Amino acid sequence: MQIVRSVQEMQGIAERLRSEGKRIGVIPTMGSLHQGHLSLIELAHRESDVVVTTLFVNPTQFGEGEDFERYPRDLDRDKVLAQGAGTDILFVPDANEMYPEGYGTFVSVEGVTEILEGAFRPGHFRGVATIVLKLFNITKPHVAVFGQKDAQQLFIIQKLVGDLNLDVQIRVAPILRDVDGLALSSRNVYLKSDERLRATALSRSLKHAEARVRAGERSVVRVKGEMQEILRQADPMKIDYLTFVDPSSFREVAAIEPPSLLIALAVRLGATRLIDNILIPVP
Ligand code: PAJ
Repeated sequence: MQIVRSVQEMQGIAERLRSEGKRIGVIPTMGSLHQGHLSLIELAHRESDVVVTTLFVNPTQFGEGEDFERYPRDLDRDKVLAQGAGTDILFVPDANEMYPEGYGTFVSVEGVTEILEGAFRPGHFRGVATIVLKLFNITKPHVAVFGQKDAQQLFIIQKLVGDLNLDVQIRVAPILRDVDGLALSSRNVYLKSDERLRATALSRSLKHAEARVRAGERSVVRVKGEMQEILRQADPMKIDYLTFVDPSSFREVAAIEPPSLLIALAVRLGATRLIDNILIPVP
């Protein structure tokens, strides 16, 4: 596995690979890799000739008072994991390489970036859209892989790609969960042991909703109420949002209707903010 730190070198390599007819698969990450990230790398490995994993804790997507400084970083461990999952090139720029002195261009996807995560993390998706577009321009992927774990991010990236006619295919990997249901996340290391137990309420509430919809329940109010009950049992925690949306538009729905429903939630457990979601087919 090759480690590349400079934008210019990465662009040169990508250009050469393209001229050789190689298919480039890219997985953008912020490092502190876990099995969820590795499943994305494995997916890219199956779909491309050369796999580029990018590792950059992007400062512009963190708000004031968020966890940018304490975000977990472990490059030595990430190198081993990334290589083991099939990475050919690890692109690890530093902040100055991505945002040199005088940097001043940002990408803003409108509308959908203001709700849910966007409402609680102003400017977050502006930072995400900007860095993802930059990473695409640097690594020149044919295919890029993102996780369903960050459903709204995925929706915004698909919109970015569509609206700006980016010539890259987006592949989606399902949410990888721990045996107890907790969605894998680099931020799970923040959880104290009692919080880690209580955190299972997120996935339990989503599973409950799925079972209720499968059994024919169509009332948002009822399913949401039951989910809130499950979440509240994991007290004390604040529910930032628990929202039922149409996955094709990300608009909130008043009723559960075919063909599918996305339930997204964000919860604070102590000092840690967790997000999770589930995509439910509605027959
Ligand atoms: P990060 O949180 O490191 O996530 C990188 C990718 O891994 C994202 O596409 C995310 O959805 C996916 N992922 C995380 N946990 C997952 C899980 N449990 N199962 C499946 N996929 C999972 O998302 C970011 O970084 C950044 O915002 C980034 C896109 C890299 C831009 O900075």
